[in-house]
Amino acid sequence: MAFTGVLFPATATGAPHRLRHLHQLCPKPRRLSSTTRTLALPSSADLPVLDAPVALAAASSVAALAAALSLSDPERRRRQQAEDVGGGDKEVVRDYFNNTGFERWKKIYGEATEGVNRVQLDIRLGHAQTVENALSMLRDGGPLAGLSVCDAGCGTGSLSIPLASEGALVSASDISAAMVTEAERQAREALADRPDLQMPKFEVKDLESLDGKFDIVVCLDVLIHYPQGKAEAMIAHLASLAESRLVLSFAPKTLYYDLLKRVGELFPGPSKATRAYLHAERDVERALEKVGWRVRKRGFIRTQFYFAKLVEAVPVGLA
Ligand SMILES: C[S@@+](CC[C@H](N)C(=O)[O-])C[C@H]1O[C@@H](n2cnc3c(N)ncnc32)[C@H](O)[C@@H]1O
Repeated sequence: MAFTGVLFPATATGAPHRLRHLHQLCPKPRRLSSTTRTLALPSSADLPVLDAPVALAAASSVAALAAALSLSDPERRRRQQAEDVGGGDKEVVRDYFNNTGFERWKKIYGEATEGVNRVQLDIRLGHAQTVENALSMLRDGGPLAGLSVCDAGCGTGSLSIPLASEGALVSASDISAAMVTEAERQAREALADRPDLQMPKFEVKDLESLDGKFDIVVCLDVLIHYPQGKAEAMIAHLASLAESRLVLSFAPKTLYYDLLKRVGELFPGPSKATRAYLHAERDVERALEKVGWRVRKRGFIRTQFYFAKLVEAVPVGLA
């Protein structure tokens, strides 16, 4: 399947029932093309119902916006978060995804609609499209049955479970013990009547500590929690674990999304505890090239509050 430029609409061939259902639940983006798609800024999930493009338009001048941004001082908040948990980026992220973030993201990635606001539903839709598009990318290479796949930063198992249900041999890990427990619970439930399949092997581990070799390594919506320097090392490590393919999603850094993120940071809320870092697509490609990999397929997923670049990389020798 051709997989270039913009991701195909999720309503195209093979779109799961869950996505169609979500389309009915989520209002259509008001300003965005219906043919483009989403990646999620975790911070958006914590916002009250806020139409960010509208918020942007409401900022009457660049000067007013700049003043507001400097008042919000996200850097100071980040330092405070790190001090609170006695560590750096990773400790903040681990703490967040074991506590408030776990509850919030379990809800977003779940299926219930009660108590889920419009922003969260929209992010659910965007994330489901990222998972579906990643699966399509992977299936493009042929059947997944029997292939070893590492799902690094597996969350509640949104990707691991469908991979296992197609017969892949999945090693799923996450820095958050709460996430891993939930993913394992969901996998047992989803695969209960499929004794022919291998349950994913779940592990509480940060991706930097992963070792071994896998046919495919996938890491969806994790890099957003790390600044470029750290993300670069993570990409290199993930590539070292993969034999043939590495699939990554990240929030692309563009002027527009940078501004959108900064507007989001104006509404921190008491429990809005993760940092969100955008990454320039070129920087991600450069990190891959440094370790001998090149991007072979790419896509872009976007809804109203979620936006993600999805890339599939292969070793240069295999390209
Ligand atoms: C936004 S969620 C995405 C979860 C999953 N990949 C998905 O797309 O459904 C980010 C996940 O990354 C995990 N995470 C963050 N930093 C990590 C790290 N250094 N190593 C492993 N997991 C990490 C978090 O605990 C969280 O479950």
